[in-house]
Amino acid sequence: MSEEKRVISVEAGSEFNRRAFFVKLGLGSLSIAAAGTAAFAYQYLSPNVLYEPSPIVNAGRPESYAVDSVTLDVNSGIYLIHAQEGFFALSAVCTHLGCLTAWKPELGIIACPCHGSKFMRDGVKIEGPAPRPLPWLQTWVSDEGDLMVDRSITIRPMQFVRI
Ligand code: FES
Repeated sequence: MSEEKRVISVEAGSEFNRRAFFVKLGLGSLSIAAAGTAAFAYQYLSPNVLYEPSPIVNAGRPESYAVDSVTLDVNSGIYLIHAQEGFFALSAVCTHLGCLTAWKPELGIIACPCHGSKFMRDGVKIEGPAPRPLPWLQTWVSDEGDLMVDRSITIRPMQFVRI
């Protein structure tokens, strides 16, 4: 092979390699763009739904609550109270900024650890920045005899469940 032909052959080979490189680069870029578009399309088409737990709480058997007891269910954020007059449920979420309150048996009050609001056992505010009393929640006895509380429904105070 003459010297001139070999030079032409090497230049043609390098041109081919450069072209193949840019073709692959272009295909790679298109693939990344297509994957990004597919991801955004999937996100756009997926339902934007917030799955929340049911507001209805099964508080269990009435006989498991002693008379004059105040029981905090931390998971559901409610107090189940067995008063002399009957059962009722309060929201345990402070009406100031939403902290979870705590029952203080030694003082006989419900206290908020965040900014010091205090409430009586029936939810009435004693002191502190809370603007409203702790709301009473709808409470009833199921057909199976369990105490049920609907956290999404507030009721007027002093509506006891008598068994
Ligand atoms: S959140 Fe309860 S007093 Fe502020």
